[in-house]
Amino acid sequence: MQTFERLDMLRTEVAALTDGGARLALVPTMGALHEGHLTLVREAAKHADHVAVSIFVNPTQFGPNEDLDAYPRQLAEDSAMLEAEGVSLLWAPTVGEMYPMGFASSIAVEGVSAGFCGANRPGHFDGVATVVCKLFHQVLPHVALFGEKDWQQLAVIRAMARDLDLTRPHVTDIIGVPTVREPDGLAMSSRNRYLTPPQRAAAAALPNAMQLAKAEMEMGAPADTAMATLREVLLTSGFDSVDYANLADAGSLQVLEKLGEEPARLLVAARIGSTRLIDNLAVG
Ligand code: PAJ
Repeated sequence: MQTFERLDMLRTEVAALTDGGARLALVPTMGALHEGHLTLVREAAKHADHVAVSIFVNPTQFGPNEDLDAYPRQLAEDSAMLEAEGVSLLWAPTVGEMYPMGFASSIAVEGVSAGFCGANRPGHFDGVATVVCKLFHQVLPHVALFGEKDWQQLAVIRAMARDLDLTRPHVTDIIGVPTVREPDGLAMSSRNRYLTPPQRAAAAALPNAMQLAKAEMEMGAPADTAMATLREVLLTSGFDSVDYANLADAGSLQVLEKLGEEPARLLVAARIGSTRLIDNLAVG
């Protein structure tokens, strides 16, 4: 595995790797890798001859009071994990390389970015869309893989790729990978390590409450009723607050009052102490 932090050197290696028609897959990450990320890497290998992974803790997607400074950084450990997975290329740019002096551009994807995490974290998805667009242009992958764990992020990236014609000539496909969970159901996340042991035990209430709400709605309950149950379970199980809990159309992310014919998704963000956890589930 070759590691690059300079764009000119990355470009030379990408050209060499794809010379002769080899396919390249990209898995963008912010590091602090876990089994969720590694599952994306393994899936990527099925779609391409070479896998590139990016590790970049992207400052533009963090709000002023968020965890940018505290976000775990462990490049040596991450690098060893990726090497063991047979990754060809690790792109680990510095902040200055990604955002040179005078950087002044931003991509805003209207609509799907508006609610949920977009409402709680103003500017977050502009930062995500901008950096992912740059990563696509830097690495020029044939396919890029993202986790369903961040359902709204996946929707934003798909919308951006469609709207800005990013899917040709290089990124021909954006692949969503199902959420990887801990044995107790908690979705794996780099932020789980912020939880104290009692908080970590309480966090399992999130997937449990979501399964309960899903079952209620599939039995015919309106979303409001199921969301009331879900909030109640979370708040009595050690969660401090619920940022949002909604049933939404899986594609447009329009909030739904009840299950209909179209695929639907339950989306939740809730806090334990200062840690914010998100999760989502297919319903219906
Ligand atoms: P990060 O949180 O590091 O996640 C990198 C990728 O791993 C994302 O596509 C995310 O959805 C996926 N992922 C995380 N946990 C997962 C799990 N438990 N199961 C399946 N996939 C999981 O998401 C980001 O970084 C950033 O916003 C990024 C896209 C890299 C842009 O900066």
